[in-house]
Amino acid sequence: MSDVRHHFFTAFQTTPALAVASPGRINLIGEHIDYNHGFVLPAAIDKLVQVAIGKRNDGAIHMFAIDLKETIIVQIKDVEPHPIQWVNYVIGVVHQVIDQLASQPNKANNIQNEILNGFNISIQGNIPIGAGLSSSAAVECAVLFALNELYDLQLTKMEMATMAQKAEHDFAGVKCGIMDMFASLFGQKNKVILLDCASLAYQYYPFDLTEYSIVLFDTQIKHALASSEYNTRRIECEQGIQVIQKKYPQVQTWREVSFEQVENCLGSSTRTPVNIYHRCKYVVAEIDRVQAAVVDLTSGNMVAFGKKMYATHEGLSQLYEVSCPELDFLVAAVKDNENVIGARMMGGGFGGCTINIIKKTAVDHIINEVANKYSKQINQPLAVYLTSIEEGTHLIK
Ligand code: GLA
Repeated sequence: MSDVRHHFFTAFQTTPALAVASPGRINLIGEHIDYNHGFVLPAAIDKLVQVAIGKRNDGAIHMFAIDLKETIIVQIKDVEPHPIQWVNYVIGVVHQVIDQLASQPNKANNIQNEILNGFNISIQGNIPIGAGLSSSAAVECAVLFALNELYDLQLTKMEMATMAQKAEHDFAGVKCGIMDMFASLFGQKNKVILLDCASLAYQYYPFDLTEYSIVLFDTQIKHALASSEYNTRRIECEQGIQVIQKKYPQVQTWREVSFEQVENCLGSSTRTPVNIYHRCKYVVAEIDRVQAAVVDLTSGNMVAFGKKMYATHEGLSQLYEVSCPELDFLVAAVKDNENVIGARMMGGGFGGCTINIIKKTAVDHIINEVANKYSKQINQPLAVYLTSIEEGTHLIK
């Protein structure tokens, strides 16, 4: 990537105050589980968004999207959801910051006045868009981290994660969980993060890649259903747990629910729609799977870990129904290959990538084989990314 500061200078004829990089993420296991208050196991990757930022004094935000060669100007006093989606990722977090400052007037008067003077920002990135690698969260986290530095807002990374999540809800219209923002901000090199999405407690685990590589196969397809179905899944799970809570009022989150309770309250002998029953069965199984997968990781049993990834895919495809023929094809293409110890669709679904754990010695061969099969069968080229696990959001020195 060329230097984001250089582009800032060309666009605004002044040097930026600072620049920030914020990565995309992978998720090893624990899919569609963050908003169900279970456990997830994401990591930040080597694909990033970079922003450079500097203050203005006329109350405007000038945003320059370098890759799109597009400049958008909005007045900071009336930020509201914008018809151009990438703009929402920027102004969504600005809105969060202004809101937060407004709720603590004494402490924040000066900062608020300063922010309302506006800023210039240039943005670029190499996270493939729509691939399920959370490019939107990376933009939100980069902008928020940059604002935090520029105005000395003293926000913690956890506050930034929840504010960026809220920006996505309110401005981008996706009722996402916290995983993407969390992973982008908290990533550490060569570590995966076990995040408890109920308490937000987290723990890092080394992910040993001496023998294996993480390879992403990108369908390069994004079915239109993605965001509406995402919000529907969330509602279906909420409906499911409400039914369970009627019978078992002590239950607070999915992690306390047993298969037996799912069967009793939502199974085929009840009047619950079968789709809700299936979603809930998946959630309970996946919460168990993540915890067992972390045990595999700790004991160095990568083969057992990988098997759980295949099981997750099966659940996402058959029960949660967020896969698509292209993703299923990619998983089926490697499933019987002993050199691919784990594979599954990753992220929200309906397109995007599969994540594959592949024996290093077999990587080249498998990539060729899968890419050939994919283009023949699906009539679409396959994009392939070999990823590494990197540090989270940081200042560019
Ligand atoms: C998207 C959302 C996340 C998470 C995943 C599915 O990436 O933004 O919050 O729910 O889907 O695991």
